[in-house]
Amino acid sequence: MSLQAIKFQSSPKVSLSILNQLQVPYQSKYLNIDSIAPFKDVTTFSGYEAIKGMYTRGAPAIMLVGCFAIVVEMDKVLNDESFSHALNYDISNYENFKTRLLERIDELIQSRPTAVNLANGCNQIKSIIADSSITTTSDLYSRILSFSENLYKEDFQSNIDIGNNGLQYIIETLKAENFKGPFSVMTICNTGSLATSGHGTALGIIRHLNQYLSKETTEYPFYFEHTYPCETRPYNQGSRLTAYELQYEKIPFTLITDNMPSFLIDNLNRPENHQNQHILSTLSSNAPLRFIIVGSDRIVKNGDLANKIGTFQLSLISKLYDEIKFIGAAPITTIDYNTESGIDIKIEERPKDELTMVLGAKIENNKFAIDSKTGDVALERVRMAPLDIDVWNPSFDVTPHENIDCIVTEKSYITKDSNGEFHL
Ligand code: MRU
Repeated sequence: MSLQAIKFQSSPKVSLSILNQLQVPYQSKYLNIDSIAPFKDVTTFSGYEAIKGMYTRGAPAIMLVGCFAIVVEMDKVLNDESFSHALNYDISNYENFKTRLLERIDELIQSRPTAVNLANGCNQIKSIIADSSITTTSDLYSRILSFSENLYKEDFQSNIDIGNNGLQYIIETLKAENFKGPFSVMTICNTGSLATSGHGTALGIIRHLNQYLSKETTEYPFYFEHTYPCETRPYNQGSRLTAYELQYEKIPFTLITDNMPSFLIDNLNRPENHQNQHILSTLSSNAPLRFIIVGSDRIVKNGDLANKIGTFQLSLISKLYDEIKFIGAAPITTIDYNTESGIDIKIEERPKDELTMVLGAKIENNKFAIDSKTGDVALERVRMAPLDIDVWNPSFDVTPHENIDCIVTEKSYITKDSNGEFHL
């Protein structure tokens, strides 16, 4: 199995492949991307399809796949006349070429509306296209290639810096409270290596906690002991992807469903209320929960944060427990400086099937069963609800900044001023 969501190379041949995350954690299969968006039978598998179909997901990963898909299509268009002709590019006329490229990029931006990183990355490519000092297709290609490669490198470094800044916030918070002993954290969705260029945002902070603040490594009177990832219905990015990443990294965790957090937290943080229920003895850690750490798909100017559906309710739970701090972690590419408040964030509604059907691996003798024809893990899609019913499936919700204690980016960790306002 692999923790690398995106593989791009520019030489000797330009190629982009993505880990098919619909099949993780059952198997690791990479799919080649040859274009920006589908076009008749000319293209095979495009960035648009990979993003819209959730083969690749997670705001930073979506941005990187989108930008690399632009590079791949440009390379093919500039080197394969029949491909460029079939896609309606006119490579003999630079202005016409740019117009067609912009049309294709605009289509790509529509693939997933809530995560702003894709639009931010594509808009930067659009400003390269608008740069009048570039006058040839090959110069334009080189500029977009180096922009995309840098974006990938910068995203990785940002994740490391987010991990470090989040760690500092947690240390400062616990020191200020004179906290002692073990603590646990909760997260939702997948925000790890698979959602980014590597390391991850919220999960990157948890990786840092495990590395620098575990019982063995801490230099403080407190230490990180346990993680609770929510399974993250309907698509189960928590149980399929985050649980897989945590297991891979040997970070102690217990998977919970999305409707368990309040009961779990009350047991951990108010054990006196549950003395007669004997629930705590069934948990592998009794460390109180001190931080809920989430990623984001878009953070707007006032700090309102769009993230996977279910994040808002976690923030509401955290408000009931003074000792729990709610942290949003994201790179600057996730910040939408053009939108004032969360009310203007477009929420993506996803197909009903995602809620009524589930794709999973067949199990035989406690192992993944193998399909004898293909040699791959045998996958099955089964329905879990009656046919022909009304279903509501918004993919994201918005957590108001009032419920957020800290936003962590690669630059710093940011808390609110005395008026309760973030200054991003
Ligand atoms: O629908 P997804 O799987 O793309 O949603 C991903 C999330 O909500 C993540 O938490 C978010 O993109 C942050 S990724 C570092």
